[in-house]
Amino acid sequence: MELSNKSITLTCVDLSSTGEGVCDYEGYKIFVDGVLPGEEIECRLIEKKRNYGKGELIRICKPSPSRTDPICPYFGECGGCQIMHLKIEAQLALKKKRVKEAFMRIGGFEDIEVISIEPSDSALGYRNKIQMPLSKSGGLGMYKKRTHEIVDIESCFLHEKKGDTLFTKIRKLNLQGITHLLIRSSKAAGKSLVLLVGQKKKSKEIVNLCREIGKFEEVATVVYGVNQGQSNYVLPKEVESIVGPGYIMEQVLGIQVRLSATSFFQVNHSQAEKMYETALEWGEIKEGMPVVDAYSGVGVLSCLLAKRGARVTAIEVILQAVLDARQNAKDNGLELEAKVGTVEKIIQSIDPAEVVYLNPPRKGCEETVLDAVAKMKPSKIIYTSCDPATLARDAKSLSEKGYRVAKVKAFDLFPQTMHVETICLFVKI
Ligand SMILES: C[S@@+](CC[C@H](N)C(=O)[O-])C[C@H]1O[C@@H](n2cnc3c(N)ncnc32)[C@H](O)[C@@H]1O
Repeated sequence: MELSNKSITLTCVDLSSTGEGVCDYEGYKIFVDGVLPGEEIECRLIEKKRNYGKGELIRICKPSPSRTDPICPYFGECGGCQIMHLKIEAQLALKKKRVKEAFMRIGGFEDIEVISIEPSDSALGYRNKIQMPLSKSGGLGMYKKRTHEIVDIESCFLHEKKGDTLFTKIRKLNLQGITHLLIRSSKAAGKSLVLLVGQKKKSKEIVNLCREIGKFEEVATVVYGVNQGQSNYVLPKEVESIVGPGYIMEQVLGIQVRLSATSFFQVNHSQAEKMYETALEWGEIKEGMPVVDAYSGVGVLSCLLAKRGARVTAIEVILQAVLDARQNAKDNGLELEAKVGTVEKIIQSIDPAEVVYLNPPRKGCEETVLDAVAKMKPSKIIYTSCDPATLARDAKSLSEKGYRVAKVKAFDLFPQTMHVETICLFVKI
């Protein structure tokens, strides 16, 4: 097959991990954006590589019964959502299948059952945080798919209502000197934290801008930080509070949680609560039980475990998150040992635990971490993951170190996107 303007008729057989339709042409894979499994389409080949090609959609000849009209006018252009054109029930089935297939294909597990996928209470307006870049021309929004071009958006359907109202107010201000905006809202407080990121030290203009934002009724605190880096990591290492205390308070399953601008916190609050409940239930925590919470963020799970009587050692690399975790334990009258540093290093020198919780970033755990955890011989390992591929890889490794996959459950934390969260219980054989 050659690159040409000629149209070809194809059938979509799957969705890629980034949400493109995967079409089959006599065994050769062609990726076409905007197409759903089962659909018959006409497209033209616009890129041809040895193992795969890229097609541009001309026409959908036979639409999928699972297709729906996306509510957002930016869908297709904005990189925030990938599958808003797919009905929510079909999104859930697709994500459950993705987890099962990852375990089979990458982990080599033949007979894994994903118990269920927990749907989100709301398929829109579930995000308690947005983080957006500003273009030089003043546009504020998400990156266009696979580019560094910014799609200027007025509002985001995934963003919770109060935070989004605040966003529409902030975007009308003169944001000169700002490269990124982050809004994090608390359900319990009904207020938001605003982080402005710039490339230069704070100026009089920036302080005035922060104060102007601080006057909006939705705002509890405004912080500013500098990031001159060219990398994709946009959050500043240090921030300064210009208005208010520099953090907001949230509640998770009865625990008071202090959230700073740069600390990790789950963006879908009600789904996060369901995930923590499952993780706690599977742990069967008893009074005095030694437990490790690795990759602990601001220590939400650590506090919930301590509340159930566990003797918790939390490990987290970001200092501010560790300070938040210690403060969170104190505020809730709980005891907790929160260690700052990499899990890779700290896990080597701590006392063995009965249950180990792992919740690494997308890249999963280093082999040295899995080795050290297995050497501790905990009766259970409970691994929460945001990437089924790295979870399946690590599950394979743990199964070679004396652990059996006992339960797998998926959670839809990010409706309209391809992301899926999974909890896996490993039991010592
Ligand atoms: C997916 S988040 C989980 C946070 C927490 N468990 C929660 O539920 O809120 C991953 C956390 O791991 C931290 N992290 C990333 N790499 C790490 C490493 N090598 N050692 C320790 N912590 C790490 C990140 O800063 C982040 O807070």
